[in-house]
Amino acid sequence: MSIRRLPEHLVNRIAAGEVVERPASALKELVENAIDAGATRIAVALAGGGRDRIEVADDGSGMAPAEIALALERHATSKLPDDSIERVSTLGFRGEALPSIASVARLTIESRVRGADGWSRAVDNGALDGEGPAALPPGTRVTVEELFGKVPARRKFLRSERSEYAACVDVVKRLAMARPDIGFTLEHDGRRTLSVPPGEDRPARVAALTSRDLGENSVAVDYAREGVRLGGVAGLPTFNRGVADHQYLFVNGRPVKDRLLIGAVRGAYQDLLARDRHPILALFIELPGEEVDVNVHPAKTEVRFRDPGGIRGLIVGGLRHALDAAGHRSAQRPSAAALGNWRSSPSPSGEGLGWGMSSGATSPRIFPTSPTPYPSPEGEGLSSVFDQRFDYFPQARAEMAAEPVPEAQTHPLGVARGQVAATYIVAEAEDGLVLVDQHAAHERLVLERMRRAMANGGVARQALLLPEVVELDEPACDRIEARLAELEEMGLELERFGPRAILVRATPALLGHGDIKALITDLGDELAAYDSALSLKEKLDLVAATMACHGSVRAGRILSVAEMNALLREMEVTPHSGQCNHGRPTWVKLSMGDVEKLFGRK
Ligand SMILES: Nc1ncnc2c1ncn2[C@@H]1O[C@H](COP(=O)(O)OP(=O)(O)O)[C@@H](O)[C@H]1O
Ligand SMILES: [Mg+2]
Repeated sequence: MSIRRLPEHLVNRIAAGEVVERPASALKELVENAIDAGATRIAVALAGGGRDRIEVADDGSGMAPAEIALALERHATSKLPDDSIERVSTLGFRGEALPSIASVARLTIESRVRGADGWSRAVDNGALDGEGPAALPPGTRVTVEELFGKVPARRKFLRSERSEYAACVDVVKRLAMARPDIGFTLEHDGRRTLSVPPGEDRPARVAALTSRDLGENSVAVDYAREGVRLGGVAGLPTFNRGVADHQYLFVNGRPVKDRLLIGAVRGAYQDLLARDRHPILALFIELPGEEVDVNVHPAKTEVRFRDPGGIRGLIVGGLRHALDAAGHRSAQRPSAAALGNWRSSPSPSGEGLGWGMSSGATSPRIFPTSPTPYPSPEGEGLSSVFDQRFDYFPQARAEMAAEPVPEAQTHPLGVARGQVAATYIVAEAEDGLVLVDQHAAHERLVLERMRRAMANGGVARQALLLPEVVELDEPACDRIEARLAELEEMGLELERFGPRAILVRATPALLGHGDIKALITDLGDELAAYDSALSLKEKLDLVAATMACHGSVRAGRILSVAEMNALLREMEVTPHSGQCNHGRPTWVKLSMGDVEKLFGRK
């Protein structure tokens, strides 16, 4: 075995593997360089999702000709004047990005220092490819063409133009959020797709890059503890999304994706949100340099805290504090602990003094063996009953006239007696008092109906009188467009409507009149989370759950007694109706014996 020193071009390619994985990672390095150069405006232009061309132009300090040459050498940096990485305040510090990119693409640097002439230098896959005078305003323009064009082994791992573009948009958004003082523009294949002006304040910038509605649906976070500061914007729990993609985290101005932080955010929202729902938020942590190591990941997207527990506590505490102060927590559903207060025995079956919880392993579906007098085929059942009107009491009997006379035993969930808080149905069963969460229950029923309809060849559609236009960001529109045929089978008739909008022509009939905008927005998010190799049918549960959530009887809707009873009856014959799509119970029962015990009668 003989050991040899690797030639420089091979060393560069190996380093490139760490820093430059795909167009988005090259783009990240270039934009970070522009920020480090003190730019006030940064213009990004991409072609072919960044696979063909990436161009980043800034109005920063610029480089003199000799500096340009040096910048292209490995480990040459202007950012570590002394040797302490701990105190580095720039985004870059390794001096590795430019030579790495230049070793696997054609890279051109054009740069001009104020008051001097411009100069340009091009390197093609590691070899100098010409230099000379260049005309440009003060600042720097770096162009990367044909990334991995001569490294087929790497090129073939690039994803579709759309996914690479989506990753590039994400990079620009995160850096633009970190620096609201800098103006950013993004162009793709000649079209302007993002533009934020310089000098914005942080909340405005975050809203511009996430959702224009975030302003009125968020709270400001500003919390400090032991020299560590947490600031930013946190979306209200009710303003949630189907994926965690809209959580932006920054440590000392650096966008990071850190599992500790993500876990802490989940912890803070834990009892405010269903497990599959996620808040929109942008959090900025500022702490002394020696408390965090930013040098643990080639792309610098992960960091290591000296005191991870303390940071976690700060995030959970800061978020809770902000959400509590906004007074919105009281609007959330009571926790399981609140129900537990009624319980004297932990038995999940509802024996003894306690609420029988309908969910859990003991009863994955309710009353699976009871024969059903009310089959609920697609299109019938709940929604048709909802359209009927009854004007005498008890209406419950009216709709059943043609059916066998109901025995108390055949109605395990009882007969509706009323509604509490426009959210809960109170029913009297033979053996106790039943409380039903109408929204959670209906959501579940819609999901199960969709499943049946899909199994029988497709979901019935209902055309909108006026097609609705829903605005989304471009990658979300792309994702939806790629799935149009599958979504149509699910009853959603959609059409691409320009670069950043989707036209909705029809929705599943069984959804009724839900919030179409929220539904399409969530779908766009959700599709991002799916592997494109999976068909939506394989993910039917998730898509149907999203739809069901938006088509359901919302909490807060007044129901007629007939509607309530229809809901109870359908629950009794629907599999899995005892738990909602988020895993919480849809109903609880307090047995008659327990009611009597509560009042000391037994
Ligand atoms: N857009 C730019 N404007 C001014 N100088 C730049 C720019 N991009 C790169 N440089 C110079 O080139 C050097 C090398 O860049 P890079 O390889 O990304 O390493 P690093 O950013 O870690 O220093 C930087 O330290 C900086 O001096
Ligand atoms: Mg750099």
